[in-house]
Parts: sequence; C-alpha cells; structure tokens
Amino acid sequence: MEPFIHCENLVKIYKVAELEVVALQGLDLTVQRGELLGIVGASGSGKSTLLNILGGLDRPSAGQVVVNGRNLLKAPNAELDTYRRREVGFVWQQTARNLVPYLTAQENVALPMTIAGLGWREKRAWTNELLEAVGLWEHRQHKLAQLSGGQQQRVAIAVALANKLSLLLGDEPTGELDSTTAHEILALLREMNGRYNLTTILVTHDPQIARAVDRVVTIRDGRTSSETIRRVAEVEKALTKATPFYDELVVVDSAGRLQIPPELREATGIGDRVTLEATDGGVLIRPADLKRDA
Ligand SMILES: Nc1ncnc2c1ncn2[C@@H]1O[C@H](COP(=O)(O)OP(=O)(O)O)[C@@H](O)[C@H]1O
Ligand SMILES: [Mg+2]
Repeated sequence: MEPFIHCENLVKIYKVAELEVVALQGLDLTVQRGELLGIVGASGSGKSTLLNILGGLDRPSAGQVVVNGRNLLKAPNAELDTYRRREVGFVWQQTARNLVPYLTAQENVALPMTIAGLGWREKRAWTNELLEAVGLWEHRQHKLAQLSGGQQQRVAIAVALANKLSLLLGDEPTGELDSTTAHEILALLREMNGRYNLTTILVTHDPQIARAVDRVVTIRDGRTSSETIRRVAEVEKALTKATPFYDELVVVDSAGRLQIPPELREATGIGDRVTLEATDGGVLIRPADLKRDA
C-alpha cells in the first residue's frame, strides 16, 4: 500500500535579508495511513518547518513531498489551498489560536461547517458528535473564556476535526498545559486517531511523547536521525505507566547516510572518519586511526 506521507530529500531554505537559513537539509520521512507519529527534536531543528510544509502552509525549496497522493511541491496554489482547508487540521501550542473567543464551544465547533456550507441537520449532528467525542458536551454552551486551557484545547481539537479531514497536525499541542492535562490531551488525540482513522503527527520537545504514540522520529539539524518504535502496541498499558518496550532505531536515509548519536561518538572516540567492516549479519563502525594512515 502507498504510504500516506512520503518525504524524500526535503530541503527548506529561508532567506532573511542576505542570509540563508537551511531549516530542512535533506529530510526523509514515511508515514502510513492512520499512524500516530511523534516528532521530537531540539528547538530550531526544523520540526515546525516540516509540519507547515506537510499542512500546505509553506512550500519546500526542493525535494519530494507527497501526502495522500498529492505532490505538495508541484501542486498549484489553488489546489494547495483546497488541500489545507479540506484535508488538514492543525492544533497549536496556543490553545486559542484557531478559536473565536466570544463564541461558545458549540459555536466554535460549528463555524468551520458553516463556512464549508454544510446543511443544518448534518451540521448539528456532527457538532454534537464532536463535542461528545472530545468530552465537552456538558460545557458546550460555555464561552471560550470560561473554559480552562485543557478544555480550550479540546475545543481546538474538535474544530480541527470539523472538516472531516484525513491529516491532523499538532505543533506542541500540550506545550502550555500542566503535565496531568497534557496527558489527558495526548490520550484524547490518541483516541481521535483511532476513532476517525486520522493520520496524526504530533511535534513536541517532550521526550515523554514516546509513551503516547506508535513511533517517534527524532529530527536533528533538519534531518531525521533516529526513530523509536513501540514494540508492544498496547498504548493503554503505557498510559497506565506499565513499562513498554521500545526499539531505538537509527535512520538510514535514501542516500545511505546515518547519524551516530553524540553519546556514542564520544564513548567510542569516533571523529570525522570511520572504517566500515562487514561482520556476520551487520556492519562494524570503528573510529579511523588517521595517524596510522598518514
Ligand atoms: N519564517 C522563517 N524565516 C526565517 N527563518 C526561519 C523561519 N522559520 C523558521 N526559521 C529557522 O529555521 C530553523 C528551524 O526552525 P523551526 O522549524 O521553527 O524549528 P523547531 O520547530 O524545531 O523549533 C531555525 O533556525 C529557525 O530560526
Ligand atoms: Mg517549532
């Protein structure tokens, strides 16, 4: 089956005055339909840039990015607009970013449907279902300002889902919440992912995200450097604090490049040259003894 998202050698260069900032430098990423993926990485590593490109808010400078069969590098502007409005939902760190403060939770959720021209019957049914799904039924008549940060984020998730999208993108969606509420919001995103078969990508700098998702990709300097895959698929176990098993994998990109984690480089004295040796079933990477060669 075709992957839902396929990025290959993705490059994004921002030009600021005379300076060029390379935010993504040859990033590879494949995401399956319905997957719940976490992306972690230090501040400035390119996480938001990647998310904005996947959501059609920004265009890459070079490389390949295909989402749901659509080539986002080559799509005409009108197609990109339609894609962004109909197929993608965003949840941001600032919980209220996509919300109207003087409307109630219910009115906020219904608004995108009104804009999309949904009939009132359908609109009412889908609004009610979403309010129920995100746990806000009791608070549906409350104005946004009367809701807590976590409740506002629940509204934001329902608003993001209002257009029956296929891709949900969260940029630090729990960044401004306390840890208990953050936990609840992650659990909710997980539930929505399963219930509506949404491909979901959550960006965070919180390494704890690994507990709530299927797979975590680490971005370092604008490239995917490693990934952690949950071996036990029962996320609920992890959420109730039983220890899940993880396989920590290093990404080998389409050109055969890989990143050796700094700790390992330090521990083994690997500098800027190594020797590779095929062993029984693997490859042995050793620091090159440059003095000997000289
Ligand atoms: N609009 C922009 N103009 C210029 N530089 C940008 C812009 N957006 C991001 N950058 C730069 O690109 C790099 C990656 O940024 P970003 O994707 O926001 O990282 P992250 O979300 O991982 O913190 C940083 O060096 C940042 O300063
Ligand atoms: Mg960011």
